[in-house]
Amino acid sequence: MVHPVMTSQTIAIYPGSFDPITLGHLDIIKRGNELFEKVIVAVLSNPSKKPLFSVEKRIKQIKLCTEDLENVEVDSFVGLTVEYAKIKQAKVLLRGLRVLSDFEKELQMAHTNETLWADIETVFLATSKEYSFLSSSVVKEIAQFGGPVEHLVPHNIAKDIYIVYSQKQN
Ligand code: PNS
Repeated sequence: MVHPVMTSQTIAIYPGSFDPITLGHLDIIKRGNELFEKVIVAVLSNPSKKPLFSVEKRIKQIKLCTEDLENVEVDSFVGLTVEYAKIKQAKVLLRGLRVLSDFEKELQMAHTNETLWADIETVFLATSKEYSFLSSSVVKEIAQFGGPVEHLVPHNIAKDIYIVYSQKQN
């Protein structure tokens, strides 16, 4: 029997900071798009963090690099992910898993979310091996020292990153 939340009619939320979105994130979005009716990429608006890009800018960036994906929506949210999922009638949270250290954090998050809403199911996709080292932090670390990031993020994002860091240096 097909699990009731795992059907092609399922809406999945892909929550995250996406500051900035990387090719690893994009890979998860594309693969999620093949599995679910709709994937909502949900950018967490976290007032306690000082991001590289504003939430509005991140939404624009993600929209641009997912414009060819028919069933992908981009949005932002504040507060608890499960509360946002309820509003969107989504019963799946999509997350990528890279390395063992991710697993601990991600499992804890999945279990926490389950205590908040028993109906939520977290679905993990193993990150494609070429992106196993990749994170938004790695991208920022390289960019702040003037290193290349075109091979790590979608094209439009690399340009935005160079602009931000060149402004920081002046
Ligand atoms: O890209 P990130 O920073 O790893 O994403 C983390 C995110 C946004 C998925 C997580 O911090 C989150 O869900 N925050 C919202 C607050 C919440 O729901 N917390 C309970 C689960 S720990």
